[in-house]
Order: sequence, then C-alpha cells, then structure tokens
Amino acid sequence: MGFAMSRTILITGGAGYIGSHTAVALLEQGYSVVIVDNLCNSSPQAVKRIAELGRNEVAFIQADVADHEALSKVFDEYPIEAVIHFAGLKAVGESVEQPLMYYRTNLGTTMTLLEVMAEHEVWDLVFSSSATVYGDPEVLPIPEGAPTGPTNPYGRAKLMVEDICRDLAASDPRWRIALLRYFNPVGAHPSGDIGEDPTGPPNNLVPFVMQAAVGRRDKISVFGDDYNTPDGTGVRDYIHVIDLALGHLAALSHISEGCREFNLGTGTGASVLEIISATERISGNKLNYEIVGRRAGDIATSLADPTRANTELEWRADRAMETMLQDAWHWQSKNPNGFTD
Ligand code: NAD
Ligand code: UFG
Repeated sequence: MGFAMSRTILITGGAGYIGSHTAVALLEQGYSVVIVDNLCNSSPQAVKRIAELGRNEVAFIQADVADHEALSKVFDEYPIEAVIHFAGLKAVGESVEQPLMYYRTNLGTTMTLLEVMAEHEVWDLVFSSSATVYGDPEVLPIPEGAPTGPTNPYGRAKLMVEDICRDLAASDPRWRIALLRYFNPVGAHPSGDIGEDPTGPPNNLVPFVMQAAVGRRDKISVFGDDYNTPDGTGVRDYIHVIDLALGHLAALSHISEGCREFNLGTGTGASVLEIISATERISGNKLNYEIVGRRAGDIATSLADPTRANTELEWRADRAMETMLQDAWHWQSKNPNGFTD
C-alpha cells in the first residue's frame, strides 16, 4: 500500500464535498490518505472516484468519528502524521431545529478525535471552521481579528470547537493547529467526477441553481433584493473547492506550534443575480427565478480578507467565478442525480 513510504494523513469526513476534493489533491501530491466517514451525508461512490482521480489507493473506514474505540483502531493501524477534520453536520437551518444533534455531533466528533490524537501522540490538526463564526460583520473585508458572533447553533458549535483547540494548544506546546475559516465553497473537480451532492433540496445557492439548470428544480427563490448591495441581493465570497482543497495542503506544510486562524476566501464577491445570469450563460438554459422575502439569519455581504493565508501559508485562491460555475455545471450536467447514477 505504500503507507510507510509517504506522509499519511487522516481525513475525517473525507467522502464529503470538500473532503473528497482535498483527498484527491493530497493523493496527487504523493501523500497517503486514510478516510474515516460514516457516510451520513455522502456516498461510497465518492471514495471510489477519489482513488480513480488520485490514481492511488485510499484506505477507507466507515465509522463514526465520535466512536473512540473505532477511531483508536485506525490510529493503531496506520502511521498517521496529521489530521484534517471535516466530519460534522453543516445545515444551518437544521441546526436551529435540532441544536442538540448539532452540538452532540460537531463537538463529540472533535473531542473524541483530539483525545485519540493525544493518546497516539499525533499533534498536527487542520480544522474546518467557517466564516459563519463572524456573524454579521462590522468590517469588510473581514480579517481574522474581527469580533466573532455566530448567530445559529451550527456557527456556535464551530466557535466552541475553535475555543477548545485554542485551550488545548495553550495547555501543551506539542499541538500545532490550523483553524481554516472557509467562506463560500463552490465548484467541483474539473473532471466532473466528484462534486457537491446534497441530499434533498439544496440549502445553498450554487447547488440549487445548478439543479435548476439541469431541470431538477422549477424555480429559484432569491432571498431578498433590498439589501445594501449593488443589485440588492446578497453578496458572498465564493471560493473554488479546488483552491480550498489546496489551502489545506498549504496549511499542512506551514503548520506551526500553537493554534492559528486563517480565512480561506478570495476577497471578492458575487451577488445572487450575478450567479443566476452567469449560470444561464454557461449552461445555455434559461432559469426561472422569483424574488421572495429575506431568509432569516442572512447577512447582506460576506467578504474575506485572506492576507494572512496569502502571506503565512503562501496560498492564494486564484480560480475565477467563471471557472467555479463552469466546473459546477460540468459536474451537474455529467451527473444530473449526483452520485446516485
Ligand atoms: P459534507 O457533508 O459534504 O461532508 C461532511 C462529511 O462528514 C460527510 O461525508 C459526512 O458523511 C461525514 N460525517 C458527518 N458526521 C460524521 C460522523 N459523526 N462521523 C464520521 N463522518 C461524519 O460537508 P462539506 O461541505 O464537505 O463540509 C466539510 C466541513 O467543512 C464541515 O465541517 C463543514 O461544517 C465545514 N464547512 C463547510 C462549508 C460549506 O459551505 N460547504 C462552509 C464552511 C465550513
Ligand atoms: N440564496 C438565495 N436562494 C437560495 C439559496 C441562497 O437567494 O435558494 C442566497 C442567500 O440569501 C445568500 C446567498 O444566496 O445571499 C448565499 O447563500 P448560501 O446558502 O449559498 O450560503 P450562506 O452564505 O448563507 O452560507 C454558507 C454555508 C454556511 C457557511 C457560510 C460561510 O451554508 O454553512 O456559507 O462559510 F457558514
């Protein structure tokens, strides 16, 4: 298998959207990859395609990351040097309805992982945080030093995990932790073989628009056109999932003692209407949309200041919005029903 030959990285939640792209990027760079995922929001098909695209074997263990015994066995079996921790639940609305499930899963997986890492003396961790920890920002673009103030249980659990990591790193200098605050990941691998495949109607804009373009959704609801933005619709800092994946590789190679937060975004934004019209052009299909009321909890604008990641991680998100939507469309049109086909 070659696991002793190259650096072995454990990816929790590696069958998911961002994890699968990161796994391929790691394989391409010669890392050995071990994935632990309970497949609660992903498909075994994704694992197969990761291995095909990365032209290498992947060790896959179907298990709950909160299961101490199962996770410990993985660390006994593979020479894991670092962990990228994606596993968790991510639907903001669902977290408002089922807060306990979100706190239990997103804190529980992380606590078990950190305990098992310490027991096996593995100290390097890259964690999937989110721009949602900033809440409604006071300054734009948002630097890492901006005040935090998440507005829902999902975001509060992310901030709690960040706090746990900061406390842990302060307690023991062996820990090296990078907290990556993602802005809005979109797009897919340029092969069109892996991509975002949400279960049920997508909550997020780009997957919804792509499903509309492929004929799976009749109408797009635009949540408000009365925001203080150029066209009145929400502006977000969309980042290509491949750039995001490469951000994890940069974090792994530049990780240093302690715990440090990094924004992963482009620093530029696009509005809801811009996304819809670009997708019409790229897909060649007319899209049906309707302006409806604002979605509870949404903000007008979210934009990253990615300077810290640019300088300290020597990383930059340089794929353009056009590429993000082209790649998302390629994935969606090649796999109209996601991994179900
Ligand atoms: P995803 O749902 O596609 O991937 C998460 C993976 O974790 C899935 O494969 C799921 O099956 C697995 N999982 C969930 N609970 C698990 C458990 N208890 N044990 C083992 N596996 C488990 O989501 P994604 O978009 O790839 O997000 C990855 C991470 O990035 C998440 O932590 C998410 O909160 C964070 N994040 C995502 C976004 C985004 O917009 N996609 C933005 C900011 C942060
Ligand atoms: N939007 C619509 N219609 C839709 C879906 C979204 O108009 O059907 C609008 C939203 O109002 C917002 C923009 O499109 O203005 C983007 O919305 P998304 O749901 O795609 O993304 P969010 O910025 O709301 O949130 C996402 C993730 C969060 C994460 C955050 C920052 O869902 O988990 O990015 O990383 F925290």
